[in-house]
Amino acid sequence: MPNDKDRLLAPERKPEDQADHALRPKRLADLVGQDKVRENLQILLEAARKRGEPLDHVLFYGPPGLGKTTLAHILANEMNVNVKVTAGPAIERAGDLAAILTNLRAGDILFIDEVHRLGRAVEEVLYPAMEDYSLDIVIGKGPSARSIRLSLPRFTVVGATTRLALITAPLRARFGAVFRLDFYDQAAMEQIVARATRLLNIAAAPEGVAEIAQRARGTPRVALRLLKRVRDYAQVRAEGAITREVAAAALDLLEVDPLGLDDIDRRVLRTIIEKYGGGPVGLETIAAAISEEPDTIMDVVEPYLLQKGFLDRTPRGRMVTRAAYEHLGLTPPANGEQPKLI
Ligand SMILES: Nc1ncnc2c1ncn2[C@@H]1O[C@H](COP(=O)(O)OP(=O)(O)O)[C@@H](O)[C@H]1O
Ligand SMILES: [Mg+2]
Repeated sequence: MPNDKDRLLAPERKPEDQADHALRPKRLADLVGQDKVRENLQILLEAARKRGEPLDHVLFYGPPGLGKTTLAHILANEMNVNVKVTAGPAIERAGDLAAILTNLRAGDILFIDEVHRLGRAVEEVLYPAMEDYSLDIVIGKGPSARSIRLSLPRFTVVGATTRLALITAPLRARFGAVFRLDFYDQAAMEQIVARATRLLNIAAAPEGVAEIAQRARGTPRVALRLLKRVRDYAQVRAEGAITREVAAAALDLLEVDPLGLDDIDRRVLRTIIEKYGGGPVGLETIAAAISEEPDTIMDVVEPYLLQKGFLDRTPRGRMVTRAAYEHLGLTPPANGEQPKLI
């Protein structure tokens, strides 16, 4: 069974996703939604340009598929600098990071995806590099070992993470700007889907666009994936054009419901309801019950269910809400059984 995490956390360059590269906004002005973040970045960029300095280190966090990687590349484009891309788990040893850092040029952006997964020893090298643009290297072993300090060009770290809570305090403190990306609203999602239909030359009625936007869980990556599947459906089962009916039929067949919940979302809710009386139940227990990775549930499933008001986090675990029962067509427990939620 394919890991469900692939839905959202897929490596970015699968052949299927080639078109995604073309769809990725290149400039800040092309970015739809995230108005606050965009405005703040505009100021950060303009100030850095005016002073002729590199950008301050920037950290983006939020659920997958909302534009963290896109923004890292946009910052590089806007500053007209190179971007070097790496990821927390890819940098195994302190030496790997030293090699990357010594190859940077002044102003370059080092994009570290999944920055919460950096190893401890690697982080310790990163601190002085970010703070003082210096690199401490130990030469030799034992009593004759000595440490030398290399100075690095002034560069910018752009970090991305789905788990702000897992970033150590000292690392977090070294980012001069921290931005949270939120799910997109319906209007922004419609613009994103409409933009993609134009760039990919897909015939779609505004109502078809709206239907896809509505079911894409506020996530551009999901919207683009659903658009491609609806396009397939339209070509094979309809006359090619994406109308509201065609979009709805295609998405029903993919088991994406009108609020954007898919099979795994519903399994999570149903499991809590049917096996654990609506909760509270721990995330690990839920994950085990439906044979999914706890990470998938925490990063992908839970944020959207929380945002929709279908799930509550309590100190004792996750609980489903009345709204979730109703959405699934189930009868909520009688008043009193979940006093906090009624
Ligand atoms: N604001 C946006 N407008 C248009 N497309 C976007 C936007 N944000 C993200 N995308 C698209 O969604 C996809 C996922 O974005 P990405 O930056 O890879 O997300 P993340 O790094 O947060 O997981 C990309 O293909 C990108 O083109
Ligand atoms: Mg990314």
